Amino acid sequence: MSVSKSDLNELEFLKELNQWSEGKPLSRVQNQVLSEYESGWAEWEEYLLGCKTLQEWLYRQDTDCEPNTRIAEQYYAEPQNTMTPKLRFIESVLNKYFPSAQRVGEAGCGIGRNIHYLSDRYPQKSFCGLELTTSGVKIANAASKKFHLNAQFQQFDMLSRQNVSQELLGSADVLFTCFALEQVSSNTEVAMERLLRITKQGLIHIEPVMELYPPTLGGTVSAKMHKRADYLKDFVATVCKLVQHRRVVIDYMGPAVFPIHAAHYPTLIVLRLPPGN
Ligand SMILES: C[S@@+](CC[C@H](N)C(=O)[O-])C[C@H]1O[C@@H](n2cnc3c(N)ncnc32)[C@H](O)[C@@H]1O
Repeated sequence: MSVSKSDLNELEFLKELNQWSEGKPLSRVQNQVLSEYESGWAEWEEYLLGCKTLQEWLYRQDTDCEPNTRIAEQYYAEPQNTMTPKLRFIESVLNKYFPSAQRVGEAGCGIGRNIHYLSDRYPQKSFCGLELTTSGVKIANAASKKFHLNAQFQQFDMLSRQNVSQELLGSADVLFTCFALEQVSSNTEVAMERLLRITKQGLIHIEPVMELYPPTLGGTVSAKMHKRADYLKDFVATVCKLVQHRRVVIDYMGPAVFPIHAAHYPTLIVLRLPPGN
């Protein structure tokens, strides 16, 4: 059996990842998540100021081009644009599973670029982004204004124990998350119950679901990294409970295929709500 240069690059990458996984465990407690993202998103304000077009806003060379990527099981050492294919993937999933949805929301939307892209592509629909950090909401709204998009953003905590506001109840036809539930770690039941209050037709999740990582070397090392980072846990069990107790139907659960950082194995989960939810 011959070993290619790409195999060697992948082994080198997995070795580094494996070393990182052996460090002190991290925690996704909310204070930690907040402090990471409040300052992280605030740094995008200056970038937004310098953007002349929406296209520049939707692709930033220094953050959206990854040196180690994979598409499903295939590893690539050449840098790739990981943003544009992700946006197109979200768009294709919405069109395939919820073509009639007129009101689309995203929870944990960060600085709102997924929603900005969709809003530009479908000006006749309405879009809303919900986000924990004030910096994310502020920048997302500023970008909507700058590029004349029909998309609003507001602060929202998926883990809050308070009732969902009247204004948000049933306000979206479909709601999606993209690498956002990963931040709530094992509190998925609380988060999902809240999201179900907002949407009428269903939920779409593009998230790293550790239980479904492939039993390959890459999948095993990435699962170890996932555990150290304290990302999403027990999501399949939560979905099974929703199927049993809330009559939610799983339309799809399987790999989400687009170029992505090589330590990620995102899953696409499409859940449909019973009529009259
Ligand atoms: C990895 S970023 C993903 C952002 C965006 N969805 C994307 O695809 O670029 C995760 C986001 O989830 C948000 N988040 C974390 N916990 C949250 C919570 N409890 N409620 C709402 N948003 C949350 C973070 O503030 C952050 O903006």
